[in-house]
Amino acid sequence: MAFRIPFLKRKLKTEINTELSLENLPKHVAIIMDGNGRWAKQRGLPRAAGHKEGMTTIKKIVSKAVELNLEALTLYAFSTENWKRPKTEVEYIMKLPSQFLDTYLQELVDNNVQVRTIGDFSKLPEHTQKAVQTSIDRTASNTGLILNFALNYGSRAEMLDALKGIAHDVEAKRIAIDDINEELINQKLYTHFLNDPDLLIRTSGEVRLSNFLLWQVAYSEFYFTDVYWPDFDENEFVKALIVYQSRKRRYGGI
Ligand code: IPE
Ligand code: IPE
Ligand code: MG
Repeated sequence: MAFRIPFLKRKLKTEINTELSLENLPKHVAIIMDGNGRWAKQRGLPRAAGHKEGMTTIKKIVSKAVELNLEALTLYAFSTENWKRPKTEVEYIMKLPSQFLDTYLQELVDNNVQVRTIGDFSKLPEHTQKAVQTSIDRTASNTGLILNFALNYGSRAEMLDALKGIAHDVEAKRIAIDDINEELINQKLYTHFLNDPDLLIRTSGEVRLSNFLLWQVAYSEFYFTDVYWPDFDENEFVKALIVYQSRKRRYGGI
């Protein structure tokens, strides 16, 4: 398709790339983009510089995901716990979506990407909501990669919302208790429009989930790397995909 040409023209022939099979790619990759602050500190820069550089990484990874024809990419951008950070840092982070989309939305539109979000959108500052909503609206009729930003996302909050929604349905007699099953829970989660992640990546050396997609990663493959998010790039991403391809997913079987 014509809109993919700019990506295909890019330099792809790395050593690692040649090992990646185009079969058996994960359909949905979820990423905990961590280490922006430490990346900046290492360079004697303010934490904000790390967040800014992290946006460049997002562009690289999205381009690669488009090129590889992945179905979905979920990026953990701001957690329900991140409000604990200093006000100035939170304010800076909340400006990033509009900065990112100002320079990048057209490319997303042209590349058939669908922007979506999970999390409690209503608690974000109005200017952040507006920028993100514009990109959701402008990409709504696209059919390619789902680029899903977890914004003010917390897995426990998501599960609570789902539980309450189901309890309301039972109370209103729209469903019976026996109608509650895993499929119904999937439908009630923020991620109802997605398949579960096949691969979960976390950068920066931390080996924890930090309240990310706890229900959905039940059978995901995990990949942890010490690389800080601003240093993560197409090659690091491909490395993670190659490791994924080496895994044997058994789902409890043999
Ligand atoms: C991830 O990088 C970005 C967000 C959580 C918003 P951090 O800001 O957590 O970077 P570190 O972990 O302090 O290095
Ligand atoms: C997880 O990173 C959240 C995001 C990447 C948005 P944190 O840096 O907030 O996680 P902890 O505090 O180290 O667990
Ligand atoms: Mg962190």
